[in-house]
Amino acid sequence: MSVQKKARTQPPGLYVGTDKHRWWKEAVVYQIYPASFLDTNGDGWGDVPGITKKLDYLKDLGVDVIWVSPIYKSPQADMGYDIADYEDIDPSYGTLADVDNLIKEVKKRDMKLVMDLVVNHTSDQHAWFLDSRSSKTSSKRDWYIWKPAKYDADGNRQPPNNWAMILGEANPAWTWDEGSQEYYLSLFTPEQPDLNWENPDVREAVHDVLRFWLDRGASGFRMDVINLISKVQDFPDADVVVPGNKYQPGDKYFANGPRLHEWLKDINRQVLSKYDTITVGEMPFVRDEDEIIRVVGAESEELNMIFAFDLVDIDNVPGDFKFTLHQWDARDLKRIVSRLQRLMLERDGWNSLFVGNHDQPRSVSRYTDDSDEWREIGAKLLCMMQTTLAGTIYVYQGEEIGMRNVPPSWDPEEYKDIESINFFKKNAEMYPDNAEKRAYARKVMQRKARDNARTPVQWDDTTHAGFTSANSKPWMRVNDNYTYVNVAAQTSGASASTSVHTFWKRSLEYRKENKYLYVYGDFELINPDNDTKNAAEIMAYRRWSKDRAVLVVLNFSGKEIEWELVNGMKIDKWIAGNYGEVNLEEKAKSASVLLKPWEGLIGELE
Ligand code: GLC
Ligand code: CA
Repeated sequence: MSVQKKARTQPPGLYVGTDKHRWWKEAVVYQIYPASFLDTNGDGWGDVPGITKKLDYLKDLGVDVIWVSPIYKSPQADMGYDIADYEDIDPSYGTLADVDNLIKEVKKRDMKLVMDLVVNHTSDQHAWFLDSRSSKTSSKRDWYIWKPAKYDADGNRQPPNNWAMILGEANPAWTWDEGSQEYYLSLFTPEQPDLNWENPDVREAVHDVLRFWLDRGASGFRMDVINLISKVQDFPDADVVVPGNKYQPGDKYFANGPRLHEWLKDINRQVLSKYDTITVGEMPFVRDEDEIIRVVGAESEELNMIFAFDLVDIDNVPGDFKFTLHQWDARDLKRIVSRLQRLMLERDGWNSLFVGNHDQPRSVSRYTDDSDEWREIGAKLLCMMQTTLAGTIYVYQGEEIGMRNVPPSWDPEEYKDIESINFFKKNAEMYPDNAEKRAYARKVMQRKARDNARTPVQWDDTTHAGFTSANSKPWMRVNDNYTYVNVAAQTSGASASTSVHTFWKRSLEYRKENKYLYVYGDFELINPDNDTKNAAEIMAYRRWSKDRAVLVVLNFSGKEIEWELVNGMKIDKWIAGNYGEVNLEEKAKSASVLLKPWEGLIGELE
């Protein structure tokens, strides 16, 4: 990918790129889901030494920061997002000494480590909760959210309100404790009781957890569902939005609650400001721009950036639960992408760029066509989008080789995630002997389940894809396509030079070489109106710095499209694309350009 550095005429419009340069804005963050990354001791479960072993691979890809999903001591009810001890490592992952060694090796390579901070809730096996549930008079009782039961007209015991459990949709968010005869709030699963942040001792204890890891050498945190820590204190019933369900999404009362900003500022002032950190808050449900800017605005002193859910919610039926299928096209994509891009530029905030993680299906399957014919082109198209937008890049393990969803033929038993299991079970309970509902549930799971992202990383074409030794049993089945979709084939095989992996590596390099344009530059959507020709297929935008501008055109459809360059726009040179260099030479530079299915192009503008 050659780059011309000659001066360009300034495109119209005020330049609102930022000159507040920060290392964490330029960083490429790679998310590791440790159970599925690499197993080094043959127990079929990925481990910390497995991460250390692949640091050179990550460095070579262009990664600056690794974010490791939870490795703390945990009963693994929700794959470690249920923490039983914040200051120790689960033996299935290794030891604290292994982590110290990981940190040392990370630093040696001039990289950084981000820990996953899960402090909206703990495990029900955490010492705090064991104490809290032991009796109503326990000194830790108030560390969690306990409420007496309600009784209906027939005298049946009912939870304190109608909120639905997040990882079990049709179940209540409250769990009855037989021993102490009260309900506790458990928004995700009964094994994940919510902490009571109203109690200052809880907040102090959380600050100590942060200090513990920063002092050990971590460089920041990905903060799990951090916008749920403050709940409306009279715990009102949620509005009924899913007719027929007893329990309803209660996010209006627990997402971005009344004291969120106060507590985030506290964390920042008392802990984060004393270190040089990168922070990203996972924030489901929030759409309000003022709320977002209050967290990530340059002056806000809360967090560097958040994970907004707009893009990964694109195929959910609005207002409904996640196991639904909603049709979308490039118009939705444009609306979502440009809103967040413009918001951060105009109001001095900062974006995170991600299209996948351990909670989402594989991006190549969700946003493009993952069939053998189009998978590579699709993965490269998404890479082009990610590496040409403004924000901090997050790559999820396996994304760099275009890993895709599990095959539709897999039995429901292959799905190991508590969310999928709960969903499938509830579906069977609600519609017994209904073959059609069962088939539909299987279909939605194959499209939306978190399991899709959790299959082991495909390192090579040997048994179990090189994730674990040949005679062990991986904790989760390896995607059947590992024989031809794997790291080895894409980094050293005959087709390595045109692989998805090589494309990612070059694109990350290219982005870094041109950071004033891609990381810090301005952004403008071309053809924002939805009634223009090909609005449903093409997303095109212009990026510009003070002295040059590029056009990015992405065909989010399997159709060939003749796309008209608007307003006499002229391309000086097509500099990159996902169909290879030769293809670029054939492209027209003015009037209109012919795009192949799922084709993406970057052109230097005259
Ligand atoms: C976040 C995590 C997810 C987990 C949930 C509860 O959304 O990413 O994996 O289930 O929080 O901790
Ligand atoms: Ca292991």
